[in-house]
Order: sequence, then C-alpha cells, then structure tokens
Amino acid sequence: MQESDIKANLSLSNDQKSAEFPVYKGTEGPDVIDIRKLYAQTGMFTFDPGFLSTASCQSKITFIDGGKGELRYRGYPIEQLAVKCDYLEICHLLMYGDLPTKEQKEKFDNRILRHNMVHEQMHFFVRGFRRDAHPMAIVTSLVSALSAFYGDSIDINNPEHREISAIRLIAKLPTLVAMAYKYSRGEPYMHPDNSLSYAGNFLRQMFATPCQDYEVNEVLERAMDRIFILHADHEQNASTSTVRLCGSSGTNPFAAIAAGVACLWGPAHGGANEACLDMLEQIQAQGGVEKVGEFMEKVKNKEAGVRLMGFGHRVYKNYDPRAKLMQETCKEVLQALGLENDPLFKLAMELERIALEDEYFVERKLYPNVDFYSGIVQRAIGIPKSLFTAIFALARTSGWIAQWNEMISDPDYKIGRPRQLYTGPTKRDVPDIAQR
Ligand code: CMC
Repeated sequence: MQESDIKANLSLSNDQKSAEFPVYKGTEGPDVIDIRKLYAQTGMFTFDPGFLSTASCQSKITFIDGGKGELRYRGYPIEQLAVKCDYLEICHLLMYGDLPTKEQKEKFDNRILRHNMVHEQMHFFVRGFRRDAHPMAIVTSLVSALSAFYGDSIDINNPEHREISAIRLIAKLPTLVAMAYKYSRGEPYMHPDNSLSYAGNFLRQMFATPCQDYEVNEVLERAMDRIFILHADHEQNASTSTVRLCGSSGTNPFAAIAAGVACLWGPAHGGANEACLDMLEQIQAQGGVEKVGEFMEKVKNKEAGVRLMGFGHRVYKNYDPRAKLMQETCKEVLQALGLENDPLFKLAMELERIALEDEYFVERKLYPNVDFYSGIVQRAIGIPKSLFTAIFALARTSGWIAQWNEMISDPDYKIGRPRQLYTGPTKRDVPDIAQR
C-alpha cells in the first residue's frame, strides 16, 4: 500500500477532538482511509453494517470496476480469460499470481488429477443423509468433513500444507458435487476418469453410469468450463469475506471453505441462480412472455418476496461482464442441443429487454448479473436446479482458497473482530422469578 499525500481529517462538532488518518492508494479503484487508530484516538467506532464503504482487507487477486462493468483476475480482463484459458489455468492464476507456462500447466493439471478421488469412507458418510437432502446441505458437510479425512495437511502455518489443501479442495470438489447428485438419484458414484478435462470429467461423473458411459460433448464441456471460470472469484463478496473471517481465527482451510459454502447458499448470493430459474419457470407456467408485464409490476411495487432474480449487484452498477459471457454461452449451448426456441431463454431475453428500458431498473442501475443466464445453460445441460449453487461453490473454491491463502500469508493478518453500536438495555438487576 502506498501512502498518499492526502490525509483524512475527522473533527467533531460537539467537542475539540479531531484526528488525522493516512490515506492509502491501491493500484486501481478508490483510495482508502486507514481508520485502525480511530478508536485509540477518539474512543469511537465507525458504523457500516453491510460493509457499504468498508474495505476489509488489501488484496492482489481480483479487481472489479462496478461503474464500468469490468472484472479482472490478477489484472487480466475476464473477457480474455474466458476465451483464452481453461478453468485450471485460472486456478493457477488465482493461487500463484500468474498464468502457467505450458510446462507449469501440465504439472499443475497432473497434480489436480492425482487428487480428484475422495477417501472411500466418504461414500458412507453421504449415506447418512436423506435422499431428498438439498445438495448444498450435503456439500457443506462434505467440505467440512474433508478436514477429518485429510488431517495431514491442515497446519495453516506450513505453506506446503496450505498448498496441498488448496490442490485437494480444487481437485475433489467436482467429485463431491457429483456424489451429492448421484446420491439424490440413487445411482452409483462414478470415479473420475483422468483422460478427461476437469470440466469433461465433472460432466461424466454426473451423467455416466457403470452400465452406460457418457460421451462428453465439446460445446457442453466448454460451457461448463466457462461457468467455472466466470464464478472462480469475485473479490470480497459475502462468502469470500466469510471464508476470510472464519479462517482468521486460525481454523483449518476445509472448515473455512465450508463456511463459505454455507454463506453462498443464500438466495441473495449463490442461491440466486436456483431462485432465478424458479422465477422463470413460474412466469412460464402462468402464461410466459405475456405475463412479463404483470410480473414486473409486482417487482416494482416491491410485493413481499418478489425481486427480479439474477438482476442487481452491490458492486456492478453497469452490465455484469459475466452475464454477457454467460448469455453467449447460453446461445451456443441451446444451438448445439437444438433448443434455439427454448421458451425460458426467450422469456429471460424479454425480461432483460423490458428491465433495461424501465425507469425503475435504470434509476437504480440494476442490470443482469451472472446468475440471470447461468441457470438456463445448466438446465439445458441436464443439471437439476437444486445443484446450481453447489456448482457455483465448486467453481468459487479456487477463489476462496486463494483469498484465504493470501490472508494467512500476510504478516499483518489478525483475527477479524468487528465492533458494534450497542442499542440494548443498560445495566439492570435480575429480578427474582416471582417478580418477573
Ligand atoms: N429486483 C428488484 N429490485 C431490486 C433488485 C432486484 N433484483 N435488486 C435491487 N433492487 C432495488 C432494491 O429494492 C432497492 O430499491 P430502493 O432503493 O427503492 O430501496 C435498490 O434496488 C438497491 O437494492 P439493495 O437491495 O439495497 O442493493 P444491495 O446492494 O444491498 O443488494 C443484491 C444487491 C444482489 C442482493 C440485490 O440486487 C438482489 O437481491 N438481487 C437479486 C438476487 C441476485 O440476483 N443475487 C445474485 C448476485 S450476483 C451472484 C453473486 O455474486 O452471488
């Protein structure tokens, strides 16, 4: 961090107290005011629920310019990464800071392949769940359980342990997500096939059975890989901040990532892809494109629980670049499968068209986000809605673990411990039970 010549001054209108704080410049994005000494100097805290104006850390991994609708991993624009790289190259980039050379890629891919099986005992662990359990419930538990199966790599102060845990997580997540799916269908688990790509292998683990192999379709494989790339990291979002906060206590990486998975499940975050497809299906069932106007009125009147899912973002106040790429992929997949007239895609396009012209959305700068089209792609591939968020978790694991590792490697890292504005009762005595 580079200190700026500008200082921030705080003066209070009700007394003489004032304080000066350093201002730091990043390489891009807004400057920050370092208020770490605010409490010591003034006896006051800052108040920022929802972190609307608070940078919780410094990071070199991902940059978003929300106003311009730009996303970069380690400086590289997502539009270039999505067409020039595969997901494992992105994992390398996030973890080590740069794209792999040809030799490094070969080595890294092989390392991932060598870790994609899970301990056989984990299969029994899954059996404890009801068959109708939500895959996110299963995946959250399985990721947490990894610490019980791979306890030989959880010394967080050992960089080699941190690296091997990262490799294990990235390698095993597709196997765990496919296991959750197979379990829900009552089908046997498929072991990974190391002759396939990361994305191709995942599709096979999902859709092959011991009696019928699955031929990986190139377009679907590319689409799956793009879904992984677009979801890989997104700087300090709710789940990543959860991973950092959980990890800041010194807990093991599997436990910290499991906390991230749990956070991702919510409909305002990773659960939005499932909620978005639910929404499209409901509108379709009620009459489709003709009912769009009626639905939009409900959204704008803020009827309880009605939002245009897959729209809006805390950071993007412009088109989410991931949504553009996802829309392209959506067209490619539907064409490859002969589903060009897919009614849900038409419905989504119509909703987008109306929203982008409507004052309510324009005024609030609400644009489609990554989840708006990802559900349609996944549904076309044959993935059930209930698995969408687990697939998001699979992809985001690379970002989470890179962010966790960055935090642990930072010599200045401290346990996260927000403060509060207390508004409860002041001190009072406990009355005897007869007087309450
Ligand atoms: N539909 C209708 N109105 C909306 C929407 C929406 N999807 N999103 C925001 N608004 C309105 C909101 O009612 C508020 O209006 P007003 O100013 O009149 O009170 C204004 O826009 C600002 O919204 P906010 O809720 O204060 O914004 P936020 O930054 O706290 O929330 C968000 C961001 C993503 C949670 C929200 O836009 C939302 O709920 N979107 C739908 C869920 C969704 O698609 N989530 C996926 C996010 S991208 C994937 C990921 O990173 O997980």
